[in-house]
Amino acid sequence: MAELPQLLTSTETATEVACDALVIGAFSSDDGVELDDTGDALDRALDGALKEHLDSSRFKGKAGDVAIVPTLGRIPAKAIAVTGLGDRSELDAGTARKAAGVAVRRLRERSTVAVALPTGDGTAQATGEGLLLGSYQFTPYKSDDHARRLERILVIDGDPGSIERASAMAEATWIARDLTNEPSSTLTPEALAARAREIADVAGIECDVWDEKRLADKGFGGLLGVAAGSQQPPRFITLRYAPEGATKKVAIVGKGVTYDSGGLSLKDATSMETMKTDMAGAAAVLGAMDALGKLRPNIEVLGFIPATENMPGGRAIKPGDVITHYGGRTTEVMNTDAEGRLVLADALAYASELGPDAIVDIATLTGSIMVALGKKATGLFSNDETLVEELRAAGEQAGERLWPMPLYEDYKKELESEVADMKNVGTRWGGAIIASLFLREFVGDGIAWAHLDIAGAARADSDHEEKSKGGTGVAVRTLVSWIEGRAG
Ligand code: BES
Ligand code: MN
Ligand code: ZN
Repeated sequence: MAELPQLLTSTETATEVACDALVIGAFSSDDGVELDDTGDALDRALDGALKEHLDSSRFKGKAGDVAIVPTLGRIPAKAIAVTGLGDRSELDAGTARKAAGVAVRRLRERSTVAVALPTGDGTAQATGEGLLLGSYQFTPYKSDDHARRLERILVIDGDPGSIERASAMAEATWIARDLTNEPSSTLTPEALAARAREIADVAGIECDVWDEKRLADKGFGGLLGVAAGSQQPPRFITLRYAPEGATKKVAIVGKGVTYDSGGLSLKDATSMETMKTDMAGAAAVLGAMDALGKLRPNIEVLGFIPATENMPGGRAIKPGDVITHYGGRTTEVMNTDAEGRLVLADALAYASELGPDAIVDIATLTGSIMVALGKKATGLFSNDETLVEELRAAGEQAGERLWPMPLYEDYKKELESEVADMKNVGTRWGGAIIASLFLREFVGDGIAWAHLDIAGAARADSDHEEKSKGGTGVAVRTLVSWIEGRAG
C-alpha cells in the first residue's frame, strides 16, 4: 500500500512557513486575477513580484489553472503555487477539491508543501481531500520508485476535524486506487481476499472468505460458472461492520472480477488492455470499509464481494450453458462476457437474505454506460426514489457524478430464455438498462436497491482534477457519505 503524505495543521503564517512550495488561491474576475489577503501579503513580501509574474503569464485564475512562482529566498517558502478558483461567488466544495488536486499534482516531487487556500462553506474537508488525492501515484513497478515524493502537507490554520475526515476519505480512495491499478497476475481472487482480511483487521471489521468448496455447498452457480474457465479459484468475501447498538443495516456489494478476458465470448486485444479494472466495484467496497473503521458511523454495514477471473480455459462455461444461482434461479448464458451480472446475482440473492434495509451494488458492468454518460459519470439505477435522492446527494458531497437511469419494464422481454428463467444478454441497445433489469430480479422483495455502473468512471484516461491516470477509486466517498447519512 502506497503511503499518503501526512496532512497536518500549522499555526505559522504564509509568509513565515518553511516549505518547498506554498499553495494559495486566486479568483478570476472581469478585472483580471484577484488574490485574497494571503496573496496580497505574499505579494508585499516579494515586493510586488507575485502579481508582476501573474500579470505577465497566461494565468487567469480559472479553475484548473496553476502558476508556479519562485520566491528566490525572499520568504521561507521556496515557491508559490497559485491555483485558480474561478469566480469568487461560485467557490464551492467541488471547485476547492479540484483546485487543490491540480495544484498538488504539479508538486508531487517536493517533500513539504504548505497550503493557505481560502475556505468557504464546507470547503475545508474537500480541499484536504483534493490535496491528498492529487498527490496519488502508482509506482510499485517503477524501477526508480525512490524518486522524491510528497511527504507532508501543512494546512495553515487547518481545522483538525476537517483534516481528519479528509484523511480518512482520501486514504480509503487511495486503497481503492491501488487495488484497481494492481495487475491481475498479483491481484488474483485469493490475493483480493487476503487484502480484504488485512483491511478488515485494521478497521476492526469481521471478514469471512468462502472458498470454492463452500461456494459449491451453498450453490453459488453464477460465481462458480464464471470461474470455471480460470486456473485461479474464486472467492466470496463477506465483511461486517457492526457497531454496538446500531439499529439500521445496509449492504454494499462490489463486482470483483480481477480480470475480464470475456471468457469464450473473448474480447478483442484492445478491449482487454484495461480489464484488470474489472474489480473496481470490489475496491470501492473495501475502501469504504476502511473509512468506516475510522469514522465509526452508527449503522451496521455488510459488504459482499464475489471475486473471480473470467477466462476461456478448457472448463469454461460456454454460450448456451445454463447455470443455477444462489437461491435457485437459472440463467442461460448466451454471452460469457456478460459475466458481472452472473456473479452479482448470487451475491445480491445472498445479501437479500440477511435483511438489509437497502442494498447498493457497485460494478464496472457495461460498456454501454460509457456510451450513454461518458467516462466521468456513474450510472445510477434503482427501484427506490428515496434511495436515488440519497445517493445523488452523497455523490454531490463526495464530488462524484451520479446520473439516474431508467429501468423500463418492457425491456425485460429481451431477457426471456427458451430454456431457463432468463438469459444473460439482450440486444446491444440499452445494454446498461438490460443489465440492471437482470440484477433487479435477484434483490429480495421490499428491499430498496441501487446499482452503480462505474464502467466509465473507474478508470481515468489522463491526469485531471483530483484524479491520476488509472484507477480513480470512484464511489468510495459516495458510499461512505451515503452510509453516514443513513446512520442513526
Ligand atoms: N467488464 C465489462 C464492462 C466494461 C467495459 C467495463 C469497458 C469497463 C470498460 C463487462 O463484463 C462486459 O464485458 N460487458 C459487456 C456486456 C455485453 C456482452 C452484453 C459489454 O458491455 O460489452
Ligand atoms: Mn465482461
Ligand atoms: Zn466484466
